[in-house]
Amino acid sequence: MRKKIVAGNWKMNLDYQSGLSLFSEIINMAKDEVIGNQELVVCSPFIHLSSLGQLSKNVANVNIGAQNIHQAESGAYTGEISASQVKSVGASHVILGHSERRAYFGETDALLASKVDIALKHSLAPIFCIGETKEERESGAFFDVIKTQLTAGLFHLSKEEFGAVVLAYEPVWAIGTGLTASPEQAQEVHNFIRKVLADHYGQEVADDTSILYGGSCNPGNAKELFAQADIDGGLIGGASLKSRDFIDIAKVFN
Ligand code: G3H
Repeated sequence: MRKKIVAGNWKMNLDYQSGLSLFSEIINMAKDEVIGNQELVVCSPFIHLSSLGQLSKNVANVNIGAQNIHQAESGAYTGEISASQVKSVGASHVILGHSERRAYFGETDALLASKVDIALKHSLAPIFCIGETKEERESGAFFDVIKTQLTAGLFHLSKEEFGAVVLAYEPVWAIGTGLTASPEQAQEVHNFIRKVLADHYGQEVADDTSILYGGSCNPGNAKELFAQADIDGGLIGGASLKSRDFIDIAKVFN
């Protein structure tokens, strides 16, 4: 059975103390209220990671992740962070391929493929994001766009390597806009993604891969989205900045 995962992406929000307070609330609420096997992953800015790693050390099912890493092992890359550095403070995951990184920082499929490799080398599970823009949805090109993102970013991995990858379908037009994909629209794409995985890696890998939905997911719409057969949780932006909302979304899997 594939894992149910609710991951929060804090993006570039929260100073150090606010991040610690929010995470402490999340941990306390998770201990009391999250009673299923779902995994929570909080992807914070780098400044919080070390402290969050300490706070979550002995908390079952609450993990932490980074929002980016550099593709090189180490070296003269001023301002960058490596996979091993992130791993060394307790991160288990890293978001890669987020549309904001693709759009604002020019991250290409080829670059992302090399970031995936270094993440896996250091036992960081990539939360690999794919998704189409508004224009690509309207032109009907979105299935091709998603297949290309999967193929170019991930399909160089062996079956065994791919086992660590979590996918997140995030239609760009739904991110931070309040416009959520309907459960049917999201399910259609998640089902397509699973078929593409089955064609490349076989049915067993496809069935075992967690595919999260992201894009204006909130406590009001999570239940219907997560009830879809191929939606295994969410990658939550705005609503992950409120402990009550984030936990309520996670509790859909109780
Ligand atoms: O990584 C998270 C997504 O970009 C979704 O953000 O929930 O604020 O729309 P949002």
